[in-house]
Amino acid sequence: MAKKAKTPSADPHAGKTPLVEMRDISIAFGGIKAVDHASCDLHAGEVVALLGHNGAGKSTLIKILSGAYTRDSGQIYVEGSEATITNPRQAKDYGIETIYQTLALADNVDAAANLYLGRELLTPWRTLDDSAMEAETRKVMGRLNPNFTRFKDPVKQLSGGQRQSVAIARAIHFNARILIMDEPTAALGPAETKQVGELTHQLKEEGIGIFLISHDIEDVFDLADRVVVMKNGAIVGSAQTGDVTKDEVLGMIILGKCPPGAIPGPGALAA
Ligand SMILES: Nc1ncnc2c1ncn2[C@@H]1O[C@H](COP(=O)(O)OP(=O)(O)OP(=O)(O)O)[C@@H](O)[C@H]1O
Ligand SMILES: [Mg+2]
Repeated sequence: MAKKAKTPSADPHAGKTPLVEMRDISIAFGGIKAVDHASCDLHAGEVVALLGHNGAGKSTLIKILSGAYTRDSGQIYVEGSEATITNPRQAKDYGIETIYQTLALADNVDAAANLYLGRELLTPWRTLDDSAMEAETRKVMGRLNPNFTRFKDPVKQLSGGQRQSVAIARAIHFNARILIMDEPTAALGPAETKQVGELTHQLKEEGIGIFLISHDIEDVFDLADRVVVMKNGAIVGSAQTGDVTKDEVLGMIILGKCPPGAIPGPGALAA
């Protein structure tokens, strides 16, 4: 149960350098300020949910972090050092991986082939080293989802949750430290959603930081340590999930009203 707080509770990461920090980020498309002086951070082992109405700027902010868009202004810091991120390759070099709702898996091949898509392992004779790739895949999947056994099946035959774990395995296999998930459970049933929840806990244990974009307030309260709400491109506020109620978060999303348990941002309605 979320307890009501009159003021935000103590920052559990006080004094620690965030894994990633976006500072004063702006981008406009034509005349529209899609992201307007937005700042937010993410710590190791933390799940931060980005919330807001359609068009609030969530995906755009996250695409700036993943290198899909180049910001007009503002800075990105990774573990305290300013990062140059102007394309997806650079973002990956900083350990930033994104899982889009579409998952972008190759449907006709198995989990191992998906993990190594474009980065295949070769034998000394320059042929595909299928057994090495499968062995590595079993290791990664064993860590993430020990119940997964369908290593020989093309991924199109897997359930939504199993496909999701293959996509996550691919993202973290190459040393992702910062994982961005845009609507990871939107197309999943309850059992599969639960599986993604378990995966998320596992990733947290490993110290991976996760930005989660979701419209599902129940999911958010189940999975996230903190919520960051956007409206019209600006940050309304940020709150630890224990410091605010679901209704208060809905008030942030709909009205831009910042409750006492949240730290207001530049997009908060003037009190
Ligand atoms: N490539 C683009 N060209 C022009 N306008 C864009 C582009 N990408 C986003 N926008 C605009 O920027 C604003 C923010 O869009 P964004 O996709 O970031 O919203 P969102 O919060 O992710 O919404 P949703 O919940 O619907 O996914 C919107 O007004 C959108 O129309
Ligand atoms: Mg979006």
